[in-house]
Amino acid sequence: MNIEPFITPEVRDRLSRPTGDGGSCLPNTCYTDPAWLELENERLFARTWMFAGCLDQIAEPGDAFPTTIAGKPVVLVHGHDGEIRAFHNVCRHRGAIVVEEPCSNQTVLTCPYHAWAYSLDGALRTRPHFEGANRHDLSRSGPGLVPIRLGRWFRMIFLNLDGQAAPFEDFIATLANRLPKHDLGALRLYKTVEWEFKANWKLVFENYFDNHHIPTIHPRLNAFYPLSKRSAFQIDGGLLRTEYLIDEPQKGRGVGLPWYPGLTGDQARFAGGYFLFPSCCLQLWPDQLTVFQLFPIGPEHTVENLHIFLIGEATTDPAYAEAAQSVADMWDELNREDIGAIEWMQTGRHSPAFDGGVLSDIWDRQAQHFANLIVEAMT
Ligand code: FES
Ligand SMILES: [Fe+2]
Repeated sequence: MNIEPFITPEVRDRLSRPTGDGGSCLPNTCYTDPAWLELENERLFARTWMFAGCLDQIAEPGDAFPTTIAGKPVVLVHGHDGEIRAFHNVCRHRGAIVVEEPCSNQTVLTCPYHAWAYSLDGALRTRPHFEGANRHDLSRSGPGLVPIRLGRWFRMIFLNLDGQAAPFEDFIATLANRLPKHDLGALRLYKTVEWEFKANWKLVFENYFDNHHIPTIHPRLNAFYPLSKRSAFQIDGGLLRTEYLIDEPQKGRGVGLPWYPGLTGDQARFAGGYFLFPSCCLQLWPDQLTVFQLFPIGPEHTVENLHIFLIGEATTDPAYAEAAQSVADMWDELNREDIGAIEWMQTGRHSPAFDGGVLSDIWDRQAQHFANLIVEAMT
């Protein structure tokens, strides 16, 4: 299937028009139709670098962590040789999932169905009873787990399913070159917070770029740093960003926790939010880095994770426990406010009175730009 039934000439026209002059966004069907999500999995998520998880989730040799990318089961593995690898999490025998739950201290990955065992480098080791009862295949000549191209940036792991994306270093440089030179090597994963809701994944990011909603949806955030001090997200190709200097950190963002080493002057006041198309979304504050990860379960059903990274001992020292928990609480409150709005927008996409929206030239150009990036990537 191709995208033309969804992206008609009329849709292309409104995507190409300025937001102040009839320009608009994707049609409702791109938020409600399972066929469009299938196309996104195939033509968007599988073709690019997708954030897949954190090194902390497979911190030790022998750790394995199952997850999904583009709707496909994959597994991240920390080998005893120290290598971090990723594989399609599917047994070459009859297609069972090999690793169902995060696990540690593994020397092999054993399929739960008929016990084919794979080395942590993916090679097939044994096939019990494969040639008849008690006639095991120990030849190691059978098919191994299928590897997936992997890129690493500090504690973040990215995968490219189709193996054809541009080099990872080029992809991540767009973001890395823009960030202030904080010592991201000091970060450790503190906690992953999860939410699940009835809305399309794209609305999460469209809401993320939309600073317009801060006074109405986030009264506490607006009291801390009002819309009048903010500008719209800057658009720079596949990178959208909002950056500002805070006068005083607020609870949950910069109070009571260690900061990145060596922050001085404006660096110590810097806060930024970044979205690198199509799925890498993170926030940098003086004491933390937070990374969103979305799992589209269906066109109207998304699981959202927020990985909260803090500086070194803040993740383990009980002296920081309360301040660290306040970070998770702050994000939970903020995100629940957003999820309400995201679900409103999802409901609206079933109305015949809405299709693409009437957009602000200031605050909504980002959503239209995102729509154009999607169409361009999928064409
Ligand atoms: S499906 Fe995995 S061993 Fe049979
Ligand atoms: Fe928000």
